[in-house]
Amino acid sequence: LREEALAAVAAADTTAALEEVRVRYLGRSAGLTEIKKSIGRLPPEERREVGREANEASREIQQALGERARDLAAAEQARRLREEAVDVTLPGHPFPEGSLHPTQRIIEEVVDFFVGLGYRVAEGPEVETDYYNFTALNIPPDHPARLMQATFFLDEGLVLRTHTSPVQVRTMLAQEPPVYVVVPGRVYRRDSDPTHTPMFNQIEGLAVDRGLTLAHLKGTLAAMARHVFGGAVEVRLRPSYFQFTEPSVELDVSCFVCGGSDPGCKVCKGAGWLEMLGAGMVDPAVLEEVGYDPEEYTGFAFGMGPDRMAMVRYGVPDLRLFFEGDLRFLRQF
Ligand code: PHE
Repeated sequence: LREEALAAVAAADTTAALEEVRVRYLGRSAGLTEIKKSIGRLPPEERREVGREANEASREIQQALGERARDLAAAEQARRLREEAVDVTLPGHPFPEGSLHPTQRIIEEVVDFFVGLGYRVAEGPEVETDYYNFTALNIPPDHPARLMQATFFLDEGLVLRTHTSPVQVRTMLAQEPPVYVVVPGRVYRRDSDPTHTPMFNQIEGLAVDRGLTLAHLKGTLAAMARHVFGGAVEVRLRPSYFQFTEPSVELDVSCFVCGGSDPGCKVCKGAGWLEMLGAGMVDPAVLEEVGYDPEEYTGFAFGMGPDRMAMVRYGVPDLRLFFEGDLRFLRQF
């Protein structure tokens, strides 16, 4: 019985099999246990001998079980470690990753820049009233300037906003100066060609405070341009005209795409400068319209087109590509 048990212990090749062997040879109904129970019925002169033998056998089996259990546990752990080993030299699983739309990148960079200066982000409705889109911005009804905006008119005096400037008015009506807001948003005009789409994006900016001048406007926008297009770009202002700013300017950025005034440069067309945005000092008529005192407060405003900025920065020839959702285009960013 002892030999048989020891052989079974040696043959058990898993922890579970070993447990079965233990039950079979040392368990309550095992042969050895029976022998021990029957010792009392033996003639007294045999009891000692049989008892000693039985105890020795069970000690020996127990010891063999213990050793085998230790060996099996070690072997099982070694196998598990081997199976679960991670080969860090294998190529990883590809992780499909989206990317930001090129326009969205510009928007986030510009907005982050102004938030860093302490500006607040404001938003307004895309379906706008005639009043906010035009009248409050010093563009009276029947004024020919409205025609320049290629407006989508809706019913009942509503329009699709043609610019983000109505949010200037909404912001000023909602709070007292000082005002520092940046306004990203979609705008709409009846236009479609390689550089115009019926929907596009604008980022408006408005600052109203005591003592603001055109110099603050220029310094602010120069810092913005360097943040977005690189520290080396220069800016210049050119006179322009908007109904809601006086004076009005356009801001050009030095051609950072192909360097200087290279006549072969398609983006800058040999001019060395890129038109970047419209801006100006808030017209006193607009300040009065929202109840601000133009004698006490002055302000500057600007409006830029992040889609155009993305075209320039990434060398995209056709604005319409930005709105078609073609993955072959979008995956390049
Ligand atoms: N709203 C003007 C446009 O759409 C841009 C602008 C904004 C000009 C703010 C001056 C001040 O063309």
